[in-house]
Amino acid sequence: MNRWSWLCPWLAIALAAAVFMLFGLTWWSALLAAFLLVCPALLLWGLFIIRQKSDEPAVHTRGMTMNWAAPFYDVYCRAVGLGQGFRGQTLQVAAIRAGEAILDVGCGTGVLTRRAGEAAGPAASAVGIDPGQDMIRVAKENAQRLGSRAAFKVAAIEQLPFENARFDVVLASLMLHHLPPDLKRQGLREVYRVLKPGGRFIVADFYRPANPLWWLVAWPFLFMPTTADNFHGTLPDYFREAGFDPVQGNGRRAGILAFWTAIKPEEKTS
Ligand SMILES: C[S@@+](CC[C@H](N)C(=O)[O-])C[C@H]1O[C@@H](n2cnc3c(N)ncnc32)[C@H](O)[C@@H]1O
Repeated sequence: MNRWSWLCPWLAIALAAAVFMLFGLTWWSALLAAFLLVCPALLLWGLFIIRQKSDEPAVHTRGMTMNWAAPFYDVYCRAVGLGQGFRGQTLQVAAIRAGEAILDVGCGTGVLTRRAGEAAGPAASAVGIDPGQDMIRVAKENAQRLGSRAAFKVAAIEQLPFENARFDVVLASLMLHHLPPDLKRQGLREVYRVLKPGGRFIVADFYRPANPLWWLVAWPFLFMPTTADNFHGTLPDYFREAGFDPVQGNGRRAGILAFWTAIKPEEKTS
């Protein structure tokens, strides 16, 4: 996918609408007909794309993967306000230093992984993992096209294929709400294991809405096993339970997202 791919669906709809208008439909019925025609076609396109083969074996997880969204995930993020501004805020919280080793868990198409790698400079290593084979395929394609040195691997947070104390920073952006409670605990223990003592776990995710109006939209998430903890506001308790100390809230975004920095304590020397 290149950087103009987000234009394709809208061009297709506009073109179909123009053709319908040539056949005498009013502009609004032509637009509706084009929308109804083009949307199923786009869905078929997505299905076709995700049937392309991955070069890595699948991993099993009970987390909610998003393979189906891989072809249009970046477009979707930008459309709902989770574009470069959101990535920039996450990196500001992460305060990445030159040469740090970075892991992005549940990296999706790897936008944040690439930017984190750039922030850490040429001596750094940035790796993104995701159990979605199509997410990782798109992440690798984008990294290659953009000349990024970030690496990507099919893997799940609950079984990280890395040795102990390998990373300075682990990022988890919008992914913890994809895990049921027991998997959150298991995944956070793994993050703790692969972080160096003093290493930082940076989380951006849904949290108790700051504005009562958001509850009109958010209340159903209180009943979903993967998202309930986020909206009840208990995510920081999970971090402490895994051993992180201190756990610090680091600002909010759009009244419904929050950022945290959780530190793996230095080893005691006694
Ligand atoms: C909403 S996307 C977030 C992607 C990316 N981090 C971002 O900020 O755009 C959530 C991602 O978590 C991944 N995921 C689901 N279960 C997972 C697991 N057990 N381990 C790691 N990632 C998982 C999904 O495949 C999906 O790509």
